[in-house]
Amino acid sequence: MSITTSTVNGVARIGFDRPATKNALTADMYAALAQAVIDAEQDDAVVALLFHGQHDLFTAGNDLEDFLGNPPGPDASVFAFMRELAAASKPVVAAVNGPAVGIGTTLLLHCDLVYLADDATLMLPFVKLGLCPEFASSLLLPALAGHARAAEKLLLAEPITPEEALSMGLATRVLPAARVFEFACSQAERFNALSGAAVIATKRLMKQARQAQVASQMDAEVSAFGALLAGPDAQAAMLAFLQRRKV
Ligand code: COA
Repeated sequence: MSITTSTVNGVARIGFDRPATKNALTADMYAALAQAVIDAEQDDAVVALLFHGQHDLFTAGNDLEDFLGNPPGPDASVFAFMRELAAASKPVVAAVNGPAVGIGTTLLLHCDLVYLADDATLMLPFVKLGLCPEFASSLLLPALAGHARAAEKLLLAEPITPEEALSMGLATRVLPAARVFEFACSQAERFNALSGAAVIATKRLMKQARQAQVASQMDAEVSAFGALLAGPDAQAAMLAFLQRRKV
């Protein structure tokens, strides 16, 4: 199984579960993720969503082999997942251990409560792969952290430590690795004791001023990303990564 779903104490847990490839995400997995978000949104018994990986791994981001063999067009499942998560009305929590690469980091910009392990490493390697940012990260990261700090992460692709993520406003709290999942679950479960209508209205108000901008930025990124993905720099970078493992 590569995406796991279960509802525990009112929390829809959505897990990345493909450890052999560091939880790299394929088109089929994005379709399952989009459906998991839709199901959680429609289920009255669900008060919050929670993304997680394993105790030492969140996700290595998009599967690079899938990127090469199955490049996403504008209607691809990855973009459907992004749209569903960006529009989610219920609170979304993330429990992040180990590497969180590419969309593993950009999806955090669409979560409400982000709990990082002290061993988490966030990476936005788009330019190193000949690509550009996605999931409105080119808008949201500079808005959170300021252009100059975001530029080190997006233009130079420098990794983001948990402490930096906290100071940039990308994370809620940093915890010992062994406690992250349990703490994130308990925080998500607190929504059971609150008015669902009040929580949903509050989240909508927190996000609505930027909602249209986020949607149009995602559209702009999709078209730039598609052009770059077909280009020689991206093809060469991805082949180099995939050939590395066969050596
Ligand atoms: N797509 C496809 N396969 C991937 C992958 C990805 N994004 N990330 C890791 N894998 C595979 C590796 O090729 C390797 O396969 P192998 O066992 O057949 O050789 C396996 O997962 C383990 O990866 P490895 O690199 O050896 O693990 P690591 O612990 O040294 O490093 C990462 C972990 C996540 C830091 C590293 O794998 C990485 O940087 N991955 C690429 C991330 C990326 O560029 N994502 C795309 C963002 S747009």
